[in-house]
Amino acid sequence: MRINEAVALVTGANRGIGRALVTEFLSRGAPRVHAAARDPRTLEPLVAEAPDRIVPLALDITDPAAVTAAAEAASDVTLLVNNAGRHAMGHLLDMDLADVEAVMRTNWLGTLRVLRAFAPVVERNGGGAVANLISIGAFGGTPAMGPYPASKAALALLTQAVRRDLAPRGITVHGVFPGPVETDMLRYATGHLRDVDGIPVASAADAARAITDGIEAGDEEIFPDPFAREIREGLRADAKAVERLLVSME
Ligand SMILES: NC(=O)c1ccc[n+]([C@@H]2O[C@H](COP(=O)([O-])OP(=O)(O)OC[C@H]3O[C@@H](n4cnc5c(N)ncnc54)[C@H](OP(=O)(O)O)[C@@H]3O)[C@@H](O)[C@H]2O)c1
Repeated sequence: MRINEAVALVTGANRGIGRALVTEFLSRGAPRVHAAARDPRTLEPLVAEAPDRIVPLALDITDPAAVTAAAEAASDVTLLVNNAGRHAMGHLLDMDLADVEAVMRTNWLGTLRVLRAFAPVVERNGGGAVANLISIGAFGGTPAMGPYPASKAALALLTQAVRRDLAPRGITVHGVFPGPVETDMLRYATGHLRDVDGIPVASAADAARAITDGIEAGDEEIFPDPFAREIREGLRADAKAVERLLVSME
């Protein structure tokens, strides 16, 4: 995948890692980037940076009609980045089930829905790539993070399954496993956790650069920041120790 030849679509592009990915793709010469967001008005500052190459798109990934319409509107996509995601802190045994459902519906089912709509689009355009934003949270069930780790573990396995199915259709599938990246989501999550001191936090721009490097290199798994790479080494050495570390976070 060469970014300077790719027509990308990034979900949740109005802020955080999604927004940084749009900027990174443009800086590497992507001819066009479809920037998708639930509320397209929130994309205005980003679109103003390169109105000739950024195409704003309304897309709530939990809305089947919106996903179908997006796949019709963005029919030139060759690189799909499933970045949109949702968090809900709380403990699974007593938090509001509506929050649990919303996280699973967004991070897992929503991502699958977008994939199903866009795989034929990418295939018709001669093949390309899909990158799914997962999380190192997929490697251990941090109790205070409610459904989030489970939603990301489910997404990691979805990623493996569709990688196999999409390979013969000329589409590579990348799983991205970030550690802490400075965004609204991290501020929300760490506001609820006590023992996060000493863990390195990456900027969204640095994470976006590393994710893009991984996509261009064809890496199946991308660990885009220092803490994520520590976790990768930990998984190689002792996966049980990684699980214990993540489960012990409060
Ligand atoms: N930041 C981290 O430390 C970290 C670590 C590991 C993984 N990740 C993953 O990286 C991705 C980006 O995270 P971030 O930190 O940039 O989060 P963020 O700042 O909270 O941004 C989340 C984005 O997802 C969008 N979104 C949420 N629900 C959506 C829906 N139903 N349809 C469409 N868009 C939706 C949000 O749109 P609105 O503005 O409309 O809410 C927003 O654009 C997520 O998948 C996250 O789980 C983040």
